Amino acid sequence: MNNSIEDELLSSSVIKNVNTLDFDYVPEEIIHRDEQLRFLAQMFKPLLSGVPQNVIIKGPVGTGKTVITKKFCKSLINIARKQGKIIEYVHINCRKRSTDAMVLLGILNHFDPRFPDRGFSVQEMLEVLRKQLIRRNAQLLVALDEVDALLKKSGSNLIYNLTRFSDESSIEKIPVSIILISQRDILQMLDTATISTFKRSNVLSLDKYTRDELYDIVKQRVDLAFHKNTVEEDCIDLIADVAAETGDARFAIELLWKAGIAADHQHVEKVTPEHVRAAKAETYSIITESKLRNLQRHQLLTLYAIAKRLKKDGTAYVNTGEAEKTYAITCEEYNEKPRTHTMFWSYLKEIENAGFINIKPSGKGHLGTTQLISLPDIPAEVVTNKIQELLK
Ligand SMILES: Nc1ncnc2c1ncn2[C@@H]1O[C@H](COP(=O)(O)OP(=O)(O)O)[C@@H](O)[C@H]1O
Ligand SMILES: [Mg+2]
Repeated sequence: MNNSIEDELLSSSVIKNVNTLDFDYVPEEIIHRDEQLRFLAQMFKPLLSGVPQNVIIKGPVGTGKTVITKKFCKSLINIARKQGKIIEYVHINCRKRSTDAMVLLGILNHFDPRFPDRGFSVQEMLEVLRKQLIRRNAQLLVALDEVDALLKKSGSNLIYNLTRFSDESSIEKIPVSIILISQRDILQMLDTATISTFKRSNVLSLDKYTRDELYDIVKQRVDLAFHKNTVEEDCIDLIADVAAETGDARFAIELLWKAGIAADHQHVEKVTPEHVRAAKAETYSIITESKLRNLQRHQLLTLYAIAKRLKKDGTAYVNTGEAEKTYAITCEEYNEKPRTHTMFWSYLKEIENAGFINIKPSGKGHLGTTQLISLPDIPAEVVTNKIQELLK
C-alpha cells in the first residue's frame, strides 16, 4: 500500500464526534429557545387530554425550526407515555417527500418499515393509517417540514384529509395534530377548507439568531464535537461574526465543521481563525451559486453586465448609466431584447435586495439620478464565471 494513503486514513483528527455536526443531530440542550419551547408546550398541552392541536412554525433558514420541533415532540411523547398515553410522532421532510402518496408512505413506514411502497392508493393508505392508530389506541402528531414543497406540488388535500380524522362528525374520532413548518407564509397556499382549520391555529415565528446567540450555539458544538482545547477561542468569535450576517445557525455549524476539516488536512492540532477564513471562502462560493439560481434571466443579465464592467475597468464602482449600456450589449449577446429603463431599475433594486450589489448616490460632479454600483463581497471574476454557466 502507498504510505500516503495509510498516513491520511490513520492520521488523527481534531474532531472527536462528527455525528454531532450533522444537520439532523438533535442536541440534548437547545440554546436560547426556552421561550419558544415553552410556547409549544402551552399550545400542545391539550394533547395530554386527547384533544388535538395544529400549529404553524415559520422562520428563515437556520433558525432552529426543525431541531426545536424534534426536541419538543420527543419530550411530549415521553411525558405522555409516562401517563399511559400513546402519541405517535412522525417527522416528514416534504422536500424529500413532496406528494401525498410519498408523505403517507413516510407516515406508514413509521408503523411498519416494510409497508410496500407501491400498490396502494392515497385513500387506501389513509384507511390503513386509521386502522393502525385505532389498533394502537394512539394519537398522531405529524410534523410536515418544509411543507411549502408539498403544497406547491400537490396542494393541501392530504392536510385536509388528515385534519378530518379528528372531526366531530367522523365515526371513530382519532386525534391527529399537525405541525406545518416553513420558511414562507403558507396560509395563502392552503385551500379554503383547510384554511378554516389553520386560520385559528397558533403560529410560532422564529427570528434570526443574534451574534451572541450564534456564539453560544457554536460553543456548544465545539464542546460536543471537538477534542478538548483544539479550537481556539477566536474561532468561535469569528464564526459568530460571519454567521451573524444571516443569523443562520446551520451556516455557523457548517463553518465550524469545515474549519475542522481544514485543520485536519494540514495535520495541525488546533483550529485557528485562518481555517475559519478558508471555510468561509469555500462556503461563500456555494452560497453565491444557490443565490444566483434564484435570480430571473434579466436580473442575471443585469448583474452580469455590472460584474463584467467592473472587471474590465478594474474599478470599485460603475455608474448606473454605464451599467445600463453594458446591460443592453449583454442582452444582444444572449439574443434577448433589453427591457425598458424602468425595468432595468427594478432589476437593480432586486439584485441589491438579494445582497449582490450595493448602490449609493454618486458624490458631487455627477448630475441627475446617477448612482454608483459596487460588488461588496464577491470577486467580479467569480460572478461572471458563474453567471456565464447559468445563462447557457
Ligand atoms: N437553539 C439551538 N441550539 C442548538 N443548536 C441549534 C439551535 N438552533 C439551531 N441549531 C442547529 O443549527 C442547525 C440548523 O437548525 P435547523 O433546526 O435545521 O434550522 P431550520 O429548520 O430553521 O432551517 C442544526 O444543526 C441545529 O441542530
Ligand atoms: Mg429545517
